[in-house]
Amino acid sequence: MTYFLNARCTVVTLQVRQHARKDDAWIAVDGKVYDITEHLVNHHGWHDNAAISTVLSILAHAGTDCSEEFREIHRPYPVAWRQLKAYYIGDLATGEEDAVGWQGAAPARGGAGTVTA
Ligand code: HEM
Repeated sequence: MTYFLNARCTVVTLQVRQHARKDDAWIAVDGKVYDITEHLVNHHGWHDNAAISTVLSILAHAGTDCSEEFREIHRPYPVAWRQLKAYYIGDLATGEEDAVGWQGAAPARGGAGTVTA
């Protein structure tokens, strides 16, 4: 997969919303955007039929800013915050930047440039 980067790695809300699938899942938490796609299959409950509510909950939040929910759900699991850092891809745009809408570029983990995975 090839990602083209925004120079400032700023992600507009519309971009986040377009990644709401189990094979392409982004979330925004506290102003930062994370591509959690690779993490999903490792998330507790993903392969456990008894934990279908966990899977549904994750999918329901994919493509959204779920700061409050992420904080509340993972309150007993500080490790979730440490794991989350690995999936950081950029900062959520605010105000006028967000009004610009789709910027024609998607960020990738790490720094600037074009990344092919
Ligand atoms: C919006 C997306 C997410 C939702 C709705 C969600 C939901 C949940 C829920 C309901 C639990 C507790 C129940 C269970 O263990 O099955 C949980 C536990 C946990 N989550 Fe998430 N999660 C999300 C994303 C993430 C991400 C991105 C990470 C890390 C990168 C993460 C890491 C963890 C960890 C470490 C636990 C504790 C599991 C354990 O050891 O019992 N979660 N999550």
